[in-house]
Amino acid sequence: MSESELPEVENEKRLVIAISGASGSLYALHLIQALNRIRGTTQLIVSPSAIRVFRQEMEANVSSASDLLGWIQERSPAPGIHQFEIQNFADIGARAASGSSHHDGMAIVPCSMKTLASIAHGMSGNLIERAADVTLKERGRLVVVPRETPYSLIHLRNMTSLTEAGAIVLPASPGFYHRPASFDDLGRFIAGRVLSALGVRLELIPPWDGDS
Ligand SMILES: Cc1cc2nc3c(=O)[nH]c(=O)nc-3n(C[C@H](O)[C@H](O)[C@H](O)COP(=O)(O)O)c2cc1C
Repeated sequence: MSESELPEVENEKRLVIAISGASGSLYALHLIQALNRIRGTTQLIVSPSAIRVFRQEMEANVSSASDLLGWIQERSPAPGIHQFEIQNFADIGARAASGSSHHDGMAIVPCSMKTLASIAHGMSGNLIERAADVTLKERGRLVVVPRETPYSLIHLRNMTSLTEAGAIVLPASPGFYHRPASFDDLGRFIAGRVLSALGVRLELIPPWDGDS
């Protein structure tokens, strides 16, 4: 990618991106591929269940977070300019676990009902949950992309709690009005919305310009 093709992004972003074990590995793939296009650094946290779901949905022979990142990068259209730092899911003492480690936003894509429930109840049993808890307590930007259907009252209450605590609940519900032609279009739709919620301006799907 030449310098002139790089999109306009005001500042380098320092993000925390987590992948948990809900269906929707495709969304995480497109988010990471899109981040490759911007300058900045991402602390990447992947749960063991996310690796299992990724193997199932993407037919990817991966068994660790670094395998998963490598698999995605091998399928990325251009060499990335973004730095990814893999953080150990079990390491509740990693950088993202501390309130002193400032970042520009955290997203959990996709977010399982288990991780969502833990965060909604202030449980910090692993690095994803702890980093989310810290993001909320520091009044940072937290975006969760839940995937389940139908929702139980418990799921809905947990989403309400997170919204009340300042998180953005961004369901994995791609729109169809832009006439997606592929799964990848659906993946880009959600990845684009997540980036927008994180304050990253990157056009993955052309913006809706009225229906004329
Ligand atoms: C193939 C597969 C698909 C799954 N899909 C979902 C899902 O869409 N939503 C969800 O909340 N959990 C789903 N689960 C269950 C979670 O992976 C499970 O609750 C796990 O404990 C979540 O752990 P984590 O949040 O630490 O990744 C799925 C599990 C598997 C194996």
